[in-house]
Amino acid sequence: MRFLITAGPTREPIDPVRFLSNRSSGKMGYAVAAAARAREHEVVLVSGPVSLEPPAGVEVVKVTTAEEMLEAVLGRIDKCDALVMAAAVADWRPVQARAQKIKKSESVSALQLARTPDILKRVAARKGARLFVGFAAETENLLEESERKLREKNLDLIVANDVSRSDAGFEVDTNRVTLLSADGERRELPLMPKSEVAKQIVEWIERRATRSATEKK
Ligand code: CTP
Repeated sequence: MRFLITAGPTREPIDPVRFLSNRSSGKMGYAVAAAARAREHEVVLVSGPVSLEPPAGVEVVKVTTAEEMLEAVLGRIDKCDALVMAAAVADWRPVQARAQKIKKSESVSALQLARTPDILKRVAARKGARLFVGFAAETENLLEESERKLREKNLDLIVANDVSRSDAGFEVDTNRVTLLSADGERRELPLMPKSEVAKQIVEWIERRATRSATEKK
């Protein structure tokens, strides 16, 4: 299969030395890329700024902002069979990035923000038979919020991730997630290495693709 995977945070510039971003390390998305490659799938990894070595044999497209990530995904979506949006896309950007460093002698009391594009919503119309997998990073109402995103973003699977735990979510090598599928499957996975969570996600995609192919015959 051909996998298109996004990973890491995006950065939204305030001025040449500052940006808005989040705590994503990219580990989960890179682990999905490695797991898909290990199963001999073709992998394109659209990556925000992270300090990780990409897995061997994966094509990497480096981006910085949410807008750049959207362009990278739009340009490659038609050539993939599965999209895995593991990136923690920044939801806001400063309305106008300043061309010069803002000096502290200026009294800045507020930043004017605008929404960034919702990448999954923007590619929804081009889904066709492709499998779409999203992640939900939550600190409260984990399953309710994940189910809302599963529906609103027209996903086949959402990986519900409680990021308030110290052993799951941002920066660490382990994760504890629940897989929720559009057809009502709910699988709570125990605490495990991100590499193992990634393998479970890739295997879920493979099973679903095989099922769809069988149903078509
Ligand atoms: N996502 C996206 N584009 C965005 C924000 C998020 O495509 N601008 C994707 C993420 O990659 C993830 C899923 O949507 O797969 C859910 O992301 P999350 O940050 O949990 O949710 P939000 O859409 O930002 O919603 P909320 O702010 O209500 O949590």
